[in-house]
Amino acid sequence: MNEHILTTDEAGVRVIEIARPQKKNALTQAMYAAIIAALEAGDADPQVRVFVLTGQGGMFTSGNDLADFTANTRADGASSPAERFPYALTQTRKPVIAAVNGPAIGVGVTLLLQCDLVYAADSATFRTPFVDLALSPEGASSLLMPAALGRARANALLLLGDTWTAEEALAAGLLSGVVPAKDLLTSVMARARALAAKAPGAVRASKALIDADAPAVLDHIRLASKVFAERVGSLEFAEAASAFMTRRPADFSKFS
Ligand code: COA
Repeated sequence: MNEHILTTDEAGVRVIEIARPQKKNALTQAMYAAIIAALEAGDADPQVRVFVLTGQGGMFTSGNDLADFTANTRADGASSPAERFPYALTQTRKPVIAAVNGPAIGVGVTLLLQCDLVYAADSATFRTPFVDLALSPEGASSLLMPAALGRARANALLLLGDTWTAEEALAAGLLSGVVPAKDLLTSVMARARALAAKAPGAVRASKALIDADAPAVLDHIRLASKVFAERVGSLEFAEAASAFMTRRPADFSKFS
């Protein structure tokens, strides 16, 4: 396990909490590995019927830990926990409900496309600054987001890096519902317990049908991982990461 990933099981619901508020819940490779382990163990455990994924401290997640990523992502495309994470979400047989308790950035948004239900606090915001960081969309997002939201709306996030409010994300079709921030976890847990009480075989069979495009999703994740790893190894990303760490604007004017 990892000190920044907390899991609790209650009434058939496994809550996975990202708990690194001092770094805005940025995800390191070790944290991805712990989330994958919690999903895989829960998927194999008959006592667990539903997962809830949330963050601590008024932030869902600020996405990949940029320092850890620069140090630990392999440019040869070999599989890292961050790369395995979207596969693990695709392959989880039991429903995953996201409780987006505050800003969601990068993978904090793209993972939502692989969750089965997504509820957000009214204070949540949504941003995927991949291109701003000289990166490319992670996981299956470049396939699933245009499919779910339409290409024009998806590109406002994926290419432009716009920030959406919870209401905008709801209107665009990214969310199942928006809840006052103080009620979010109570409301999500009530829904999670209700889902956990339903016939588990029926829930799994229905989810498998809803996810029937999983093979195409897995192929797309493979392609996106290869492109992403190339971007992480690029001089453009080195400039973007250095700009973030030293709190200055990135300068891409010298690149062609
Ligand atoms: N990777 C690494 N460290 C991060 C981080 C990330 N994705 N997001 C936040 N942090 C760290 C900051 O470096 C800072 O560390 P420090 O206190 O040691 O200096 C700490 O978390 C607090 O962040 P700070 O930027 O001071 O808080 P803020 O409230 O002003 O802004 C964010 C919060 C989330 C808007 C801002 O941190 C941010 O834009 N983060 C990067 C998001 C991003 O681009 N993610 C990658 C997507 S692929």
